[in-house]
Amino acid sequence: MSVAGTAVRINWQPRPDKAKLGLVEDGFEFSASDIHAGFLDRETLHRILAAQSAQNIETIRRAAEKTLLERCGDTVRLRGLVEFSNRCVCDCNYCGIRRSNRAVKRYTLSLAEIVECAQWCAAKGYGSLVLQAGERRDEKFAAFVAEAVRAIKAETCSTELPEGLGITLCVGEQSEATYARWFEAGAHRYLLRMESFKPALFAALHPREQTYAARREALATLKRLGYQVGTGVMIGLPGQSLDDLVDDLLAFRDLGVDMIGMGPYIPHVQAPLGGADQIGSAQARLGLSLRMIAAARLLLKNVNIAATTALQALSETGREQGLRFGANVIMPQVTPVRVRSQYTLYDGKPCLDDNAEQCCECLRKRIESVGRRVLYQAWGDSAHFAQRRALAKA
Ligand code: 5AD
Repeated sequence: MSVAGTAVRINWQPRPDKAKLGLVEDGFEFSASDIHAGFLDRETLHRILAAQSAQNIETIRRAAEKTLLERCGDTVRLRGLVEFSNRCVCDCNYCGIRRSNRAVKRYTLSLAEIVECAQWCAAKGYGSLVLQAGERRDEKFAAFVAEAVRAIKAETCSTELPEGLGITLCVGEQSEATYARWFEAGAHRYLLRMESFKPALFAALHPREQTYAARREALATLKRLGYQVGTGVMIGLPGQSLDDLVDDLLAFRDLGVDMIGMGPYIPHVQAPLGGADQIGSAQARLGLSLRMIAAARLLLKNVNIAATTALQALSETGREQGLRFGANVIMPQVTPVRVRSQYTLYDGKPCLDDNAEQCCECLRKRIESVGRRVLYQAWGDSAHFAQRRALAKA
C-alpha cells in the first residue's frame, strides 16, 4: 500500500454567509470531496478540534475512519486491564488515588490473583493485557512486577500465542535499570502519559518533584530500550486551550510514539485540581476528546489508539464512539470486582461492579454494533512500531 496515496488532507472553506445565519456554527465547512493526499497543518488541526457543526464533525469522523481502515484494518485489539495496586508515591493534583488521599483503602493484588486474571484473558482470546498500578519505585515493587511479568508469560502460552500474552506496563516513571529489567522479563509495551505537553499545564497538574523534563526523558529512554511506547494527555483540563491540544498532537508526532491513550479530564472530589466550574460540560469534553482521537488518527495514521474508559464515564456509548472516530484498542476491565471501586482515578468510573465475564460479552457486542470486529488470539501490536523497526533495520 502506498503511504503517500493514503495520506489524508481535509480542506476547509470559509462559509461566512451560513455562519451569519447560524446554520454552520463553525463559520466554515470541511469538504469531503477535498479529502486527498497531503498533510495536516496546525490550522487544520485547530479547525478539527474546534468543529461544532454535525456536518463538519461527520466529515472529520469519516476521514479518520477511512485512514484507520486503510492503515490498521477493521479489527479492535483488546488488552485486559489489571489494576493490580492503588498504592502510589505520587501526589498528582487530578488523581483520585494520589498519595495524600487518605479516604482510599489501599490494596495490592497477589501474584496468584494477577496470574489468574491473565489466564482468564488468555482463555477468552484477549491477546494482551495491561498491568496498571500507582507508582512505586522501591526494589520490592520492581521485583514484584518483574516476577508478575515472567509468571504471566509462563502461564499463558498456547498454540496461538507461543510466547504468552502481550504485556503493556503502565506503572509510571522508573529508573532506566528498572525499565530494562521489566523489558527483559517480557513486557514489550509501556504506556506513560505526559498528561499535557505544555510545561505550564504539566506543572499545574503535578507537585514540584514531578518534572516535565523527567517525564520527557522517561519516554525517550523507553523508546531507546526497545519498548513500543505510548503516551497521552487529558482533554478539557482547566486552563487548556485548543492550541495546547494541537501542540500535544504535534508532540505525539515528533516523539514518534506507537500508541496513544487519552481521554477527557473528569474531576475527582478528593483531588485538589477540581475545576468543575472552569471546564466544558461532559458533552463538550466528550466531543472534544472524540475530535482529538480523529485528529490523532489523521495525523499519526498507523499508531494504536485506545478508546479509553474515561470516554465511557461521560457517555454510555463513549468507547464505541471512540472506535467510530478512529480508535482501535479497548481495555476491558479484568480487575477483580472486590478491589475495583478502590481504583477510582476520577468520579463516575463505569463497570465498577460488572464482572469480567459480563464486560467481555458486553464489549464484543458494543464493538460489533459499530461495524468492527474483535482481534482474538493476537498481541495486536502497533503497525507504527513494525514500520519503525523495519526502517531501523534497513
Ligand atoms: N480524569 C481523567 N483522567 C485521569 N487520569 C487520572 N486521573 C484522571 C482524571 N481525574 C488518567 C491519567 C493517568 C491515567 C492512568 O488515568 O491520564 O495517566
